[in-house]
Amino acid sequence: MNPIQLFEPVSCTYTYILFDEDSREAVLIDPVDDMLDRDVQVLREHGLKLVWTLETHAHADHITSAARLAELTGAQMAAPQGCNIGTAGVQLQDGQLLPFGRHQLKALHTPGHTAGSMSFYADMGVQRHVFTGDTLLINGCGRTDFQSGSAQAMFHSLTQVLFALPADTMVWPGHDYQGRTYSSIGAEAATNARVAGKTQAQFEEIMNNLNLPRPKRIDEAVPANLTSGLRHDAGGEILMSVREVPGYAGDVSAQLAWSWVQSGEAVLVDVRTDAERAWVGFVPGAQPLAWKQWPDMAMNPAFDEGLRQLAAGGKKLVLLCRSGVRSVAAAQRATELGLEAYNILEGFEGDPDANAQRGKLGGWRFHGLPWRQN
Ligand SMILES: [Fe+2]
Repeated sequence: MNPIQLFEPVSCTYTYILFDEDSREAVLIDPVDDMLDRDVQVLREHGLKLVWTLETHAHADHITSAARLAELTGAQMAAPQGCNIGTAGVQLQDGQLLPFGRHQLKALHTPGHTAGSMSFYADMGVQRHVFTGDTLLINGCGRTDFQSGSAQAMFHSLTQVLFALPADTMVWPGHDYQGRTYSSIGAEAATNARVAGKTQAQFEEIMNNLNLPRPKRIDEAVPANLTSGLRHDAGGEILMSVREVPGYAGDVSAQLAWSWVQSGEAVLVDVRTDAERAWVGFVPGAQPLAWKQWPDMAMNPAFDEGLRQLAAGGKKLVLLCRSGVRSVAAAQRATELGLEAYNILEGFEGDPDANAQRGKLGGWRFHGLPWRQN
């Protein structure tokens, strides 16, 4: 079975879905933000359960939808360890296996386009596939002149890692600008214009003289991709002082709360449910202490005692929930207990937008503060 190959015409990016026909478990490689609805629709039409969303590298030409996909489907985010995509819960090492149904993808470290770039290899029994991102392209390869690229590393990745795969392995590139869809390792090893029959010196000479323009969206895309596609707040006044309110110590912005946590003044307390943290993501170093718990949203009987223990070191408490509602109630309770507690405005995800999607109107992730999927 071939992967489902999907195309995004602005950046000529291919997104791939590969799945196990029995269990319907699927992996999705290099999703593009503007195509999120299409990708979710394709998963639905094929009755697939997305278990992994993967990046071949931190892209400079488009923005990933990995974080939104993970939220909508429950998929795990994985990214190459060397790409600094800190929001991905699984940081892939060379050779790591990603199971889906009775199949698995193998991560192959193929640096050159970027230092962290990976390809993903799947031996499906009858057929073999390799998803090469911007490392091996059809009759070409990714550029190596920016973003930690290296022509020397690219030559090694192409000739020693990818061309070492079985010749009949089907090659599924990250882009094609001329409408071609796939190739094979055998064909590329024999005829690829950049590398076939070339010495390393000849290859480096070609790569170092391409004189390509700087990618148009690099300044926007790379930072967004380092947080799995959730963009940082552009402009807008950021509240960097406490807003006084009755009932508790005050409201603070996520940025102010984080600066207090970093300077050791405050303890960050995540009052969401265990399920929310596991599903949506969490802040590394935050102390989990649910205010209420699923399924019936009953009060957590251990809340008061937990809060007292977290405040025992004499630090302020900054309370984080999903959108900044429960954290107000929790801050009020903390104040009744005699503790200095602040509510973090907008919570982890902010309010839902007109399409009932969270994460676009504000919140911890929206502002680009550290977080990670489980
Ligand atoms: Fe790229």
